[in-house]
Amino acid sequence: MKHITDNSGAKEHNARHLLTVASLSPGEIRNLIRRAVKLKKHYRSGFPYRPAIGKILGLLFEKPSTRTRISFESAMFQLGGQVSFMSSRDLQLRRGEPLEDTARVLSRYLDCLVVRTFGQEVVETLAEWSDIPVINGLTNQHHPCQILSDVMTVMEHKGQDLGSLKIAWVGDGNNVAHSWIEAAGKLGFNLSLACPEGYEPDPDILARAREEAGGKITVVRSPEEALKDTDAVNVDVWASMGQEEEAGRRMEIFAPYQLNREMLGHAGAEAIVLHCLPAHRGEEITEDVLEGPRSVVWDQAENKMHIHRAVLEWAMRLDGVSAEERRQDEQ
Ligand code: CP
Ligand code: NVA
Repeated sequence: MKHITDNSGAKEHNARHLLTVASLSPGEIRNLIRRAVKLKKHYRSGFPYRPAIGKILGLLFEKPSTRTRISFESAMFQLGGQVSFMSSRDLQLRRGEPLEDTARVLSRYLDCLVVRTFGQEVVETLAEWSDIPVINGLTNQHHPCQILSDVMTVMEHKGQDLGSLKIAWVGDGNNVAHSWIEAAGKLGFNLSLACPEGYEPDPDILARAREEAGGKITVVRSPEEALKDTDAVNVDVWASMGQEEEAGRRMEIFAPYQLNREMLGHAGAEAIVLHCLPAHRGEEITEDVLEGPRSVVWDQAENKMHIHRAVLEWAMRLDGVSAEERRQDEQ
């Protein structure tokens, strides 16, 4: 956070923010996923694990959410902590209170803050002025926690050797696609994206990830080409939150990108289907594919909760992460 004056209350700190996948090291990503797998097993054993007793998680949401909100709330309750949900329209933010002031005040009340908003600069400003960890729960540009649980889901179904996998993205090259691109950059799997003209990913995000991945990320126009030999296929809504007015035009532009049975036939024979949800049946995906045997979307949704527990543990430096895992964190 900014250090303005000695009496501002500001103090130097090293809060672990999670604003983009790119801000994590490959070791941190792998450790978060490894930890989430362990926490998932532990959760199923029924034994309580409550390292967050006395801690409070704030959720500041400017857009709707079913999965991210409730899975973070469940994750924090399972860790023994408490949750305070804040819709931005109920806060003084709506009447113009600066983000910088909001961040400093919330830092005095909370131990961690998850934010869902429009511009990435909002989470960046909040993080800059916070003493507590700020976690991006979706912006127009990124959805990092989503991709951590998506990669976890792919690994559960396709094995640990990510480098040997080819993953496809079909549709809009925006927030979720950007986080997939950054994950490919960090973890080195093959990622092939098919996007309509004008809806390609941000070239800067692409260029940075390609520098890390060594040319394993491709963007093509044809979904059939992107799907060739893939182990996993991802789709997302055609009109994201905040783009409702463009929905009609987008339905026409994205129609050739629908994941239906015929389209899925171009993927690898064993390819799994992922969708971060909410799904619009008959638009980006057909009912038979979403509900079909290749679909892992319900596992994917569940894994958000397990990843969120791992993320909260990591961000708040709670007990439970072994010394060995912490050492790997540094790599
Ligand atoms: N996948 C996802 O982020 O869903 P919600 O919008 O319901 O949180
Ligand atoms: N791209 C979608 C993701 C929803 C989880 C959106 O931003 O609305």
